[in-house]
Amino acid sequence: MAGQVKSRKRVQEHGEVFTNEREVNAMLDMVKQETERIDSRFLEPACGDGNFLVEVLRRKLDVVDKRYRKSQHEWEKYAFVAIGSIYGVELLHDNVEACRSRLYDMVEERYRRVAEESPNPAFFGAARFVLGRNILDGNALSLKAVDEYGNDTDEPIIFSEWSIVMGDKVKRRDFRLDEMLEGSADEPQIPLFGSNGTPASEWELDQETGSLIPKPIREYTPTSFYEVMNVE
Ligand SMILES: C[S@@+](CC[C@H](N)C(=O)[O-])C[C@H]1O[C@@H](n2cnc3c(N)ncnc32)[C@H](O)[C@@H]1O
Repeated sequence: MAGQVKSRKRVQEHGEVFTNEREVNAMLDMVKQETERIDSRFLEPACGDGNFLVEVLRRKLDVVDKRYRKSQHEWEKYAFVAIGSIYGVELLHDNVEACRSRLYDMVEERYRRVAEESPNPAFFGAARFVLGRNILDGNALSLKAVDEYGNDTDEPIIFSEWSIVMGDKVKRRDFRLDEMLEGSADEPQIPLFGSNGTPASEWELDQETGSLIPKPIREYTPTSFYEVMNVE
């Protein structure tokens, strides 16, 4: 990020003022342990060009470097987990692209240091694919996907969960963000209906967090993390 403001128009129309590095770090330090847990999931609903998400990824990759730099394969796997845990929604398409690029460039630079002469092209492809699925053009208020001009479409924002299920195999499950936000750790019991009319039978208990989550709208066959972009 070059400065905190790109133009007065963008500030007036979209409240676009980027957070500087010192403030980003001070805020992330409030949840330091989570930022250093490779698989902890972060979602930023108005992510701009990614100042927070880039710093979260940096911290996670520092841990991946420290633990796994001696094994290229293990580094790739845990870097995949780190990338797959970072989510953003942003209204303006140029910011979405800038955010994806900054995250990708950081991964690529780190990976080239680890892999030296033998980087695996499939890893680059997988990283790019996951960032394309995790950093989305969307309206964080209406929870709709937006077009390249920032206008709401009829489609909901849909995020993918990436979970290592065994060895190198990753399972992808897709969820609607509006449905995800209906469930929370505070939910005392299964609601009869979500406010969008989702029947209770379509909710399930998430073993990882102990909270209620809606059933995924789509599940994919587990596949090697190098192949996530090829699975239907
Ligand atoms: C104050 S800036 C913060 C950007 C970034 N989070 C940071 O701290 O550097 C707010 C961002 O939200 C975006 N934005 C504004 N309204 C939005 C909406 N309804 N949904 C998603 N993003 C939105 C703007 O384009 C801008 O990039």
